[in-house]
Amino acid sequence: MIKEEILKALRGSGDYISGQELCEKLGVSRTAVWKAVTRLKDEGYEIDSVSNRGYCLRALPDVVTEAEIGSRLRTKIMGRTCVCFDSTDSTNIQAKRLAEEGAPHGTLVCAETQTAGRGRRGRAWASPPGEAVYMSLLLRPKIRPEHASMLTLVMGLAVASACNELLARAAGGAEPVPRTGLKWPNDLVLNGKKAAGILTEMNTEIDSIHYVVIGIGINVNTRTFPEELSQATSLCQAAGKPFMRSELIALCMEYFETYDEQFEKTEDLRGLKTAYEELLVNKGRQVRVLEPGNEHTGTALGVSDQGELLVRLQDGRTEKVYAGEVSVRGIYGYV
Ligand code: BTN
Repeated sequence: MIKEEILKALRGSGDYISGQELCEKLGVSRTAVWKAVTRLKDEGYEIDSVSNRGYCLRALPDVVTEAEIGSRLRTKIMGRTCVCFDSTDSTNIQAKRLAEEGAPHGTLVCAETQTAGRGRRGRAWASPPGEAVYMSLLLRPKIRPEHASMLTLVMGLAVASACNELLARAAGGAEPVPRTGLKWPNDLVLNGKKAAGILTEMNTEIDSIHYVVIGIGINVNTRTFPEELSQATSLCQAAGKPFMRSELIALCMEYFETYDEQFEKTEDLRGLKTAYEELLVNKGRQVRVLEPGNEHTGTALGVSDQGELLVRLQDGRTEKVYAGEVSVRGIYGYV
């Protein structure tokens, strides 16, 4: 994709690159380069074009496009096939549609806004344009179907790691650095509020997986939330400055690819448990296990190799809570 290659070259150089150099690098004509630069300018990129010097990238818009994501990706598989919508019903719905049409493992679907964004437990996921990340990753993992639900935790860890890397960079050495944590199984928590959520859907048979779609919504640059979302926060609220959403998307793909390789080796969380527990905000806290007909409290200890929450009960026994069955709340509020 020519726009993607031009962005990569311009960003990489940080200075002027001649039209000739771009043509040679990309193996296309000068007119093709000029046309692609014109299209980028239309999308909001500030690119100086000076005769005898060439092109220089001055400013980037915060857009979620195939070219912007592709120019930042350093993965082998995840996000290498990428489809971006200005507006769509739900990226999970689109990823499932693409899966049925044969799209490859690692296909990423993103949108600027969703008209029917969905959260867990049948809830709606508010999806206003321009300020958040709405993305879904299509996977065709070669693992046992009963192990697939752990992929949600793997993604939670990847998204938290990516957010934390950007939050640390934004702080630029100033203390304290805001940090996201994980509320088991996979809500991202920042300053005690929810910054991101994950909705995983799968199409499986008894002993094989057709596909898994992991949908992620991240509150990135939202400045204020409506009253009904008083438990929500954004990276921008915590850092006091905005982020480039495509950079975050590319970084999520990178972390996920690394963690997923680790996960698929053993088909459990053995290799990721320490990293996950380091971010687990429930750890050591009193939690309420909302098991229908058997609500009870205990102390969260950590997670098992299978991704269950380990809860020490009042009688001293340790129970394993499976994510699909019950939800867990802090006894004093959201966390
Ligand atoms: C949750 O309830 O915490 C999960 C929210 C998941 C929202 C994301 S946004 C992208 C993808 N498309 C959807 O319709 N939902 C997920």
